[in-house]
Amino acid sequence: MRILVTGGCGFIGSNFVRFLLRERPEAHVTNFDALTYAGNLENLAEVEEHPRYRFVRGSITDRAAVDAALKDGADVVYNFAAESHVDRSLYEPQTFLDTNVKGTATLLEAAVKAKVKRFVQISTDEVYGSLGKDGFFTETTPIKPSSPYSAAKAAADLWVLAYHHTFGADVVVTRSSNNYGPFQFPEKLIPLFVSNALEDKPLPVYGDGRQVRDWLHVEDNCRAIELVGTKGKSGEVYNIGGKCERENLVVTKAILKAVGKTESLIKYVADRPGHDRRYALDISKIEKELGWSPKVKFEEGLPATVRWYLEHREWWARVKSGAYREYYEKHYGKGL
Ligand code: NAD
Ligand code: TYD
Repeated sequence: MRILVTGGCGFIGSNFVRFLLRERPEAHVTNFDALTYAGNLENLAEVEEHPRYRFVRGSITDRAAVDAALKDGADVVYNFAAESHVDRSLYEPQTFLDTNVKGTATLLEAAVKAKVKRFVQISTDEVYGSLGKDGFFTETTPIKPSSPYSAAKAAADLWVLAYHHTFGADVVVTRSSNNYGPFQFPEKLIPLFVSNALEDKPLPVYGDGRQVRDWLHVEDNCRAIELVGTKGKSGEVYNIGGKCERENLVVTKAILKAVGKTESLIKYVADRPGHDRRYALDISKIEKELGWSPKVKFEEGLPATVRWYLEHREWWARVKSGAYREYYEKHYGKGL
């Protein structure tokens, strides 16, 4: 089984590559990644020499590079590559349009031409927009994205689904909730707050801190994505959630407790413009159709993640300082 994973040097992608190599002895994995600020080869250092793994540097917006990566064909493409941070999408929205929309369209077109059997688009619950206190997003909830990030992801979803509807392309779309776990770039809430707490730096809570996210451990997500990729119905969307809604302040306090620091580190700062209030997913479709449900309890997953950051201080210190980029030059030559 030949598998192309795009964005495999990021958080979820690198966990997914490790998952495939560990769990699927038949999987030969090509990781195609542009190595943006979020792509870190160190995330996959332990499998770099693995006989069923290869890394190719390239952008999904570059058709020639994508064609070259697909030259020997692939059975499945898992498209993780994206600009993924809402706050950055407020300051440089155009990059999100280029990568998340045009990049996905370019990759999909190339995959269809290369006769890839299935295209798996990794999307997000953020395409549905924001909920009030009640209710859940189902796969049939109309999409109503709020940020340039989620609008670009929504456009990519629709593009991929249109290729199924119009051309009969075999595609599936996963819409997962907020992931957490090892190797997450410390710009997102949990790794930023854990690493700041470890450094005795303030934890910047946006607005009143009462926004709600549904937390999903990255291992649970990897398992679900692969299940959708192999058993999901063509042309369908699958929500993947942790059944774990928590207010940001609750998560913040749990992090401080796990790190052993006091709440005096909490610093309320101006709210994010257009901040979505609440995300919550109805996951009955994947539970009933594919028999998946989340296994990692937040009360265990969060302390375990905190421990991982404690034990990998060097990793996140290098990421925060930008030094991780030297790894590329050392191993692959100049040019990052
Ligand atoms: P990330 O920012 O950690 O990693 C993104 C990866 O994509 C990086 O390795 C980067 O170098 C690569 N990349 C960016 N632009 C590229 C391009 N043009 N060509 C090739 N590679 C490129 O992101 P993540 O948190 O691992 O998210 C992965 C996917 O999952 C994204 O599509 C994101 O929208 C989606 N998602 C993430 C979450 C979450 O909580 N992190 C939740 C739901 C969905
Ligand atoms: P984030 O991890 O950026 O994910 P998303 O915005 O895609 O859900 O943020 C999670 C929540 O945490 C979100 O409500 C914004 C909030 N947040 C803060 O309060 N402070 C921060 O420094 C960050 C990065 C996020």
